[in-house]
Amino acid sequence: MLEVSGLTKSFSGFVAVNGVSLSVQSGEIHAVIGPNGAGKSTLFNLITGHLACDEGEVRFEGQPITGLPPHAVVRRGIGRSFQRISVFPRLSVTENVQTAIVARDGREFCFWRPLLGSGLDATMELLETVGLSDEADNLAGELSYGKQKQLELALSLAGEPRILLLDEPTAGMSPRETEDSIALIGRVVRERNVTLLFTEHDMTVVFGIASRISVLHHGEIIASGTPEEVRANAAVQEVYLGRSAH
Ligand SMILES: Nc1ncnc2c1ncn2[C@@H]1O[C@H](COP(=O)(O)OP(=O)(O)O)[C@@H](O)[C@H]1O
Ligand SMILES: [Mg+2]
Repeated sequence: MLEVSGLTKSFSGFVAVNGVSLSVQSGEIHAVIGPNGAGKSTLFNLITGHLACDEGEVRFEGQPITGLPPHAVVRRGIGRSFQRISVFPRLSVTENVQTAIVARDGREFCFWRPLLGSGLDATMELLETVGLSDEADNLAGELSYGKQKQLELALSLAGEPRILLLDEPTAGMSPRETEDSIALIGRVVRERNVTLLFTEHDMTVVFGIASRISVLHHGEIIASGTPEEVRANAAVQEVYLGRSAH
């Protein structure tokens, strides 16, 4: 479904992503793990067109998407969320999702024109899916951190992506919130038949959910395989588990 080959990106001489190749099969839950600074966010930004690569290619469903701007990448069926919260804090939860659905339908969202009933059925269904029905009328900015992340998940699903890229969806969460959030994400992508590629720095978080794990270290993929294969990989144990096991 997604084929990344030889992707490379430097920032003023510093190679953040170095010849990364990765394939994601349809239906997979694929985790990219690696310590902070490994190049995970940069890799995602290269795939989604938020950064231009120096070398390499990205193909989605057989078509090259390298160099396409972010909105064109989204149109192809690739949804994403960011490591930092990106909701409209002063709009209600419902309005946030409505905005994303209106954008998907190709209509321009105008802040001065009321959304009224636009996309309301689809909005309510999405809120139900991510467990935010009770928060529908509350301001997004007043939700707890965990609930803002649930809202972000709804926003990234609004475009009906076939693959979802989530960059550290559990960043900043307590262990309990992390567990709930991973369970929610797993349930939602399976229910909606969405392929998932996500990043995580804590290796223990991904074992329960990932069908495939790729390990990124200093901008390079050092291992890729099933959770069992990755856990047993000597290079991974040396450079990753040895350093950040806790
Ligand atoms: N815009 C940028 N300019 C300069 N250096 C950057 C930029 N973005 C990321 N980097 C550097 O690239 C490396 C990888 O960063 P990042 O992709 O954010 O890692 P991760 O998401 O795995 O924590 C880090 O050393 C970071 O400082
Ligand atoms: Mg990151």
